[in-house]
Amino acid sequence: MYRSKIAGIGMYVPEHVVTNNDLTKYMDTSDEWIQERTGIKERRYAHRTSETTTTMGVEAAKIAIERAGITPQDIDFIIFATLSPDYYFPGCGVLVQRAMKMKEIGALDVRNQCSGFVYALSVADQFIKTGMYKNILVIGSEKHSFGLDFSTRGRNVSVIFGDGAGAVVLQPAGEDSTSGILSTHLHSDGESAEILAMYNPGTHANHWTDQKLADFDEAEIAQMFFSHNMIDKAQVFPNMDGPAVFKKAVVKFPEVIMEALNKNGYQPSDIIVLIPHQANLRIAEFVQKKLGLKDEQVYNNIQKYGNTTAASIPIALCEAWQEEKIKEGDLVCLAAFGSGFTWASALLKW
Ligand code: UT7
Repeated sequence: MYRSKIAGIGMYVPEHVVTNNDLTKYMDTSDEWIQERTGIKERRYAHRTSETTTTMGVEAAKIAIERAGITPQDIDFIIFATLSPDYYFPGCGVLVQRAMKMKEIGALDVRNQCSGFVYALSVADQFIKTGMYKNILVIGSEKHSFGLDFSTRGRNVSVIFGDGAGAVVLQPAGEDSTSGILSTHLHSDGESAEILAMYNPGTHANHWTDQKLADFDEAEIAQMFFSHNMIDKAQVFPNMDGPAVFKKAVVKFPEVIMEALNKNGYQPSDIIVLIPHQANLRIAEFVQKKLGLKDEQVYNNIQKYGNTTAASIPIALCEAWQEEKIKEGDLVCLAAFGSGFTWASALLKW
């Protein structure tokens, strides 16, 4: 069984910078509120028409593939994590296959929101370990700016999110190698699924009962999937009970990081760099304190990019590596928590 390793990493963020002050044009908010509660100073928004979740993913992938020293034709499996796909279906994976003129390889889309990248990495890791694939492209990408409620009603969500993409190429580490992914740990608790969710369009029909159903004609029943009412009630935008998410996140982040460390016989002080999902700087600070980590052990870049959900970990990992904060042999921990709830960690030797 081969361990897998990250052979190449890349990131892409759109050029357009949106500051907290820019957002005050659309909603009742302030730079002070956003910085104090989240640590975010600015984020990037994709070009409205020429950039999509897929195109940004492709840009990040090109860099990761080049750094791995291979070509798109060498990739033998794609895993794409996002909550803001180009289409409701098909997923972005096949769009990457088409855009990069890859062979007729498998393409899988992962829908685990903030934990999406770590889930995707874990799936890729299993395929490498079994020897099924040799070059797996894992992408996390989001174009949030297209689907946010920019009125004051949606301000608790819309100020947080930003656009961008990150990608890695996973390969077998080689028989004698001590580097690579040591372990991954995946969790979920669906009890609070609606606490952070985009309800519609969807097939849940949550707001209707069977008794009421008898009163509707076919045209009205069709509207249960998508209707003006849903738009009016902002159900087509992400909804979040922020404090409830925060409360759970600060428990599950340390828990899943400790799970990874314990599994491999390490302690928090052994971590060279922790890359937490960039949800909120206050959450990352809380986790740092709880685990007794020094400032230089935790990498944050939410200040520049906001929360880019499935893209946040590969973007942060890529920047940390580019800034030479991660070197060969370093112990790196990735950890995520978000909608679902789902949470996950990965421990790797770089
Ligand atoms: O990656 C996905 C996972 N998501 C997360 O991890 C998010 C976790 N939660 C959070 O990061 C925080 O809960 C938020 C940043 C979303 C909100 O911060 P908070 O300190 O929990 O604020 P709150 O929701 O309790 O709201 C406090 C006040 C409210 O006003 P009142 O009722 O006290 O008058 C909100 O209406 O702040 C108000 N508010 C805002 N004010 C200015 C909410 N959003 C804004 C805003 N600007 N953007």
